Amino acid sequence: MKFSARLDKLAPYPFVEISRIIARKRAEGVEIVTFGIGDPDIPTPEPIIDRLIEASRTPANHRYPETDGLPEVREAIADWYKSRFGVDGLDPASEVLPLIGAKEGIGHAAFCFLDPGDVCLIPDPAYPVYAAGTLFAGGESYVMPLLEENGFLPDLEAIPAEVARDAKVMWLNYPNNPTGAVAEKAYYEEAIAFAREYDIGILHDAAYSEVVFDGYKALSFLEVEGAKDVGIEFHSLSKCFNMTGWRFGSAVGNPDMVHALFTIKSNLDSGIPQAIQEMAIEALTGPQDHIDSNNAIYQVRRDKVMDALVRLGLGVVPPKAALYVWAKVPPGYTSASFTARLLDDLALVVTPGSSYGENGEGYIRLSLTTPDEMIDKGVDRLNSWNIPPPPEA
Ligand SMILES: Cc1ncc(COP(=O)(O)O)c(C=O)c1O
Repeated sequence: MKFSARLDKLAPYPFVEISRIIARKRAEGVEIVTFGIGDPDIPTPEPIIDRLIEASRTPANHRYPETDGLPEVREAIADWYKSRFGVDGLDPASEVLPLIGAKEGIGHAAFCFLDPGDVCLIPDPAYPVYAAGTLFAGGESYVMPLLEENGFLPDLEAIPAEVARDAKVMWLNYPNNPTGAVAEKAYYEEAIAFAREYDIGILHDAAYSEVVFDGYKALSFLEVEGAKDVGIEFHSLSKCFNMTGWRFGSAVGNPDMVHALFTIKSNLDSGIPQAIQEMAIEALTGPQDHIDSNNAIYQVRRDKVMDALVRLGLGVVPPKAALYVWAKVPPGYTSASFTARLLDDLALVVTPGSSYGENGEGYIRLSLTTPDEMIDKGVDRLNSWNIPPPPEA
């Protein structure tokens, strides 16, 4: 069989390998505690499930959906942006596009902007799909390192002018996976000015906007003046509404960019099952109180995990948002060797920072989406452990 060259360039998706390891260990009878993938363990709120049951009985929902979704779901997204972020006047017809989960839209977005050889500015460490989409489109990733000393924000001034002139789009993601960092208005203003200067489209991923700690309130990129002139924002019901399994996201903002994504998608997919679109309407227009109660649960878990890591002497920056703790590995270890040590000694699964890019090396990511009793088990294992000397180099 002859496969494409792009397949050889593509690293296996990090969680595919992690799921295999977990399955193998469990088959050996090992009780694994996983801090791996960010997949909320808390169920989807009841009213949203009730809406699915009802919507599944409607024959119209048994047929092909439209790629751009039901008018009512686009309206619900625009209204939610207004009530949650004060983003006024989004046109549901031209500035809002539902997605089969944000991942789908993020992966396909590259086809809208990049021809072979075109440059895409990509943060590193980052959600791997920005680079994978760029690769699929034949584009070139230019890495913007996310460094602790810069608050894990790309240093736009460090991008050489000739690279910026060539670049067509730039990915940003706040609240950030994997670092838990956030961006404030001044940073978005700087990014918008940079985008204008070099004619670069901004693709902002706000999948974690509602998962916040210590009363923090995350901004939407679209709240910032001029954002809609240069960019779109990707959002997702997965993390904020415990709906990873249902697959619903959105792209909102610049109408030309939204239309480009619609054109690509309408040639590739046939939209989101309508009963799931009805769930999304319920999620966006119904009670939002589960968001605070979820965050209270995640915050307790964050504090327990951080305390255990700090006791072990690991460097941790307390995350303001997102579902993760991003911790430095001890001296002498790499991301991979420390991940392997945690698995072998404690049957704990974490994600090596290096799977988010070269600048993730030296870190591990711990997800807080594990049930409380398993968090406690994992923390007990960490608390009763001392880090062995690192492997010989
Ligand atoms: C930064 C980021 N964006 C998008 C997604 C995907 O969201 P969805 O479940 O809507 O595809 C994830 C999932 O982990 C993510 O971490």
